[in-house]
Amino acid sequence: MAIEPLFCVDGKKAIVTGAASGLGRAMALGLAEAGADVAIADINMDGTQDVARQIERLGVRALPIHVDISESGQVEQMVETVLREFGTIDILINNAGIPPVGRLPSHQMKQESWDKVINVDLRGLFLCARLVGQKMVEQRSGKIINIASISGMLVNKGQAGMSAFCSAKAAVIHLTKVLATEWAPYNIKVNCISPGYMMTPALQDVAKDPKRLQQLIDLVPMGRIGEPEELKGAVLFLASEASSYVTGHNLVVDGGHTAW
Ligand SMILES: NC(=O)c1ccc[n+]([C@@H]2O[C@H](COP(=O)([O-])OP(=O)(O)OC[C@H]3O[C@@H](n4cnc5c(N)ncnc54)[C@H](O)[C@@H]3O)[C@@H](O)[C@H]2O)c1
Repeated sequence: MAIEPLFCVDGKKAIVTGAASGLGRAMALGLAEAGADVAIADINMDGTQDVARQIERLGVRALPIHVDISESGQVEQMVETVLREFGTIDILINNAGIPPVGRLPSHQMKQESWDKVINVDLRGLFLCARLVGQKMVEQRSGKIINIASISGMLVNKGQAGMSAFCSAKAAVIHLTKVLATEWAPYNIKVNCISPGYMMTPALQDVAKDPKRLQQLIDLVPMGRIGEPEELKGAVLFLASEASSYVTGHNLVVDGGHTAW
């Protein structure tokens, strides 16, 4: 196969959760630039409409959907809406997530801080994978890309309150392997991407403090924080035929952070 068709997602139908902002927005735009129609699914409706307008300017279809991924009824509705409008779901980018809540060590944190993070970052991600996965099993095809984190592989140095977030992201990496093995017989590939520190609104507080920002940069062999656009290549690889024999993989995009 020629190289360009290998990475082609022209005409494919994708859902990107958490696409109103940050990494989700960049990945949704990347898929749209490569020819996919994209459902922009997020709890932030204004943001979804804004990203949808940007995507439509690229000449593909965009479908803004208001969804809280931690509510199974809303995720069911999301799947129904996409199937009604697009007819099929080829690609799910399971990206929506929240950062650690409360920032206190485990012996001081409130139980609800743990519950909030696990509820969105693990349970919500599973709900989306399961309900989209059911349709992909019927279709006998699909690509699911879960967004984990290097926090699923290491404990973030110098940061308090990471227990729920790190646990959720480690679980996402392992859940990816479980789903990949369960759904391999149905021609569904399930992989995850673990970004390192990327400059999104979620990192804005740190970015305002030059000393703190430099501490993070010092952890990265490439000597800089990543840009959201730098996930586009990884997503296109995992969403296209270029990764036809890849499943259960954790693709780390971290400027070398986890190599140290
Ligand atoms: N930015 C980083 O450095 C970094 C690093 C590693 C992993 N990640 C992961 O990447 C993903 C995106 O992070 P980001 O930095 O772009 O954050 P972000 O805050 O910019 O975007 C997250 C999006 O998810 C949406 N969202 C939150 N809760 C939701 C819910 N319950 N239902 C639907 N949508 C919801 C938000 O409205 C927002 O648009 C997250 O899973 C995050 O853990 C980010």
